[in-house]
Amino acid sequence: MKGGKAPNVTAWLYGVLIGSGLIAFPIVLAFCYVVHLAVPGLPFYVWAALTPLIYLIAKWTFNFAALGLIRASLRPVNEGYYDMDPSNPNVGNWMLNASLTSMGRYLVGFLPLGQPGLASHVLRIIGARMGRNAIASSIIDPPLVEMGDGSVAGGGSIISGHALDGKKIYVGRVKIGRNVLIGGNTIVLPGVEIGDGAVIAAMSLIPKKTKIPPRTVWMGIPARQVGYVDEEGNIIIERKEGEGGVSGHI
Ligand SMILES: CC(C)(COP(=O)(O)OP(=O)(O)OC[C@H]1O[C@@H](n2cnc3c(N)ncnc32)[C@H](O)[C@@H]1OP(=O)(O)O)[C@@H](O)C(=O)NCCC(=O)NCCS
Repeated sequence: MKGGKAPNVTAWLYGVLIGSGLIAFPIVLAFCYVVHLAVPGLPFYVWAALTPLIYLIAKWTFNFAALGLIRASLRPVNEGYYDMDPSNPNVGNWMLNASLTSMGRYLVGFLPLGQPGLASHVLRIIGARMGRNAIASSIIDPPLVEMGDGSVAGGGSIISGHALDGKKIYVGRVKIGRNVLIGGNTIVLPGVEIGDGAVIAAMSLIPKKTKIPPRTVWMGIPARQVGYVDEEGNIIIERKEGEGGVSGHI
């Protein structure tokens, strides 16, 4: 997959905003026109009462038009280390995708579509591959992230498809299997793969390119394997000899 020519990120952002307005405006106008035909001679106070409804219709029509344009504007990015040079198509494309998807999150906001289940649909529209009932708190670079069915990333966690190291940027996919639990405030960096049923303790950091086997328990900064999940779903945290063992249940 080739990156093509480096995009003009600012022009794209303005293009999406103006394009969304151009799409939303006639739809809202048509709505007002239909109301006006259906109920001719509406007194002023009725129009005033309708204002919040018209505002909501206008806002969400605009938001969905913007999300659609954002989706259509996403560009391919190859995994790898790059100098932070926007004229490199992979870096330029990553910047474009990151700017567009963060604009999408900003427009949609936290409520009402920020609710966990609904947020997954928005994440899908802006490029994330979210399984059934997968819930995430904050996915940076949605086009680079996939989460399997039933996986949960707790509040305050960040799953990122990029990491800036000084003057270089590493861009990589994050693959999270099914029924994975990522504890609150954990940071997952690019190139990470997490196997089905794994558990990452709250407040952990998973360094880039870490491969986490299925049904293992990881903890800490940087995270290390500290245990496993047994057949019954019990979390077994292993201790060094003489320190005893601790177990819990998901
Ligand atoms: C890792 C985790 C699954 C372990 O749960 P558990 O099996 O019930 O284990 P315990 O709470 O008994 O803790 C076992 C040991 O690990 C330690 N521990 C637990 N979580 C820890 C964490 N996030 N970081 C560091 N140490 C941790 C405990 O202090 C305890 O140590 P000790 O044996 O020296 O006393 C749980 O602590 C956790 O982080 N869950 C994530 C919950 C979450 O954020 N969900 C997101 C949706 S809100």
